[in-house]
Amino acid sequence: MSSAKYFPQNIIIKKRDGGALTREEIQFFANGVANGEFAEYQATALLMAIFWRGMTPEETAWLTDAMMNSGEVIDLSDLPGAKVDKHSTGGVGDKVSLILAPLAAACGISVPMMSGRGLGHTGGTLDKLEAIPGFRVGLSVPEFRAILQKVGAAMIGQTPQIVPADRKLYALRDVTGTVECIPLICASIMSKKLAEGIDSLVLDVKFGKGAFMKTKAQALELARAMVAIGKVSGKPVRALLTAMSQPLGRCAGHTTEVIESIECLKGNGPTDLMEVTYALTGHMLILGGAAKDEADARAKMEAAIANGSALQKFREMCVAQGGDARVVDDYTILPTAKKRIEVKALANDQGFVSEVDALTCGHAIMALGGGRAAVTDAVDHAVGIADLIKIGEPVAPGTRLCTLHVNDDAKGAQAEAHLRAAIKFSATKPQSEPLIQDLIQ
Ligand code: URA
Repeated sequence: MSSAKYFPQNIIIKKRDGGALTREEIQFFANGVANGEFAEYQATALLMAIFWRGMTPEETAWLTDAMMNSGEVIDLSDLPGAKVDKHSTGGVGDKVSLILAPLAAACGISVPMMSGRGLGHTGGTLDKLEAIPGFRVGLSVPEFRAILQKVGAAMIGQTPQIVPADRKLYALRDVTGTVECIPLICASIMSKKLAEGIDSLVLDVKFGKGAFMKTKAQALELARAMVAIGKVSGKPVRALLTAMSQPLGRCAGHTTEVIESIECLKGNGPTDLMEVTYALTGHMLILGGAAKDEADARAKMEAAIANGSALQKFREMCVAQGGDARVVDDYTILPTAKKRIEVKALANDQGFVSEVDALTCGHAIMALGGGRAAVTDAVDHAVGIADLIKIGEPVAPGTRLCTLHVNDDAKGAQAEAHLRAAIKFSATKPQSEPLIQDLIQ
């Protein structure tokens, strides 16, 4: 395309005035951002215009495609079996990927998973994996392919060659108030997933206090937009809408979440975490042709946990990626915090737990040093929350609300204050909110 035909200012003015951009204009924008022809100040002006004016489904699909093609698109078609990934919009205590990838692989699906790091109150899969001594997430594409072929699951970070336009655009959105825009989120997530070489995709679109999308209506809009992109790209996409008002499972942090994930693979997982894991993995098995329906998928997944094959896949993946697989049997090799502090119910804390605010729990992790305020921050893998009480459970003075894994007393005290603010009580048992609220396909 001749860049002389297009001028960033004309594209900005067109969108500012409510016009729909052409495929070529969108390609010029995505490529121009990646190669510098579209200056950052012009890109941010266009992002703000998109934020206010929105994009048609066609424009969103073109943006996704243009972003995906701004870098390398991995071709895994020569590898045997169905390649299916899962993406979650993120939440607190969401360690599903660590359980789901080996579980799906044990059931015959190939899982090429590229994940992100934690930012703000939500944790990141890569940081959790790096709590395992030696575990390498920075694999090259050839290493990624080789592990995928040998083990059936590989979990890595995004390579610099994949969707370079998103790296630049996301960094600009982050500092210009243009993150919360459904067409931009949709194109950002889907361009990266489609560049991974997948055949199909399952999405976990979370909503609630601890999620990126605060309301179910927003989550539904995002889910529908992403499923629509899948249709245009010829890749089946299913999205589950899941509630994220309280943390998933009973642990949040890095070491604590790795332990909880391994316990899930050993058959000792908490009900809520297993419900979401089984639902998402089940749809992966159906999309990949490894199960005929949800009941069949459930039977296969339960068997893979009961016969140890899912745990064995986790071990194999650890070994293949340089991690110390002894972690499966010995949690003491994980980074361990200096102190454990039990947070107990006070004299007036009586009745039932009515709320465990996921966002405030995320702030507790940040206070402990287990989160990242800026992308360049280091995280303390050892600190975190374990044994977290759940909504609906009975409480009397002295009941344990959680155990904090702490490396610094002052930070521990701050985290305890957050936890006490997060947990609320009621005299009667609250109605439980369904965890999985919709399936969009
Ligand atoms: N996650 C992404 O990868 N991109 C967004 O725009 C938002 C969340």
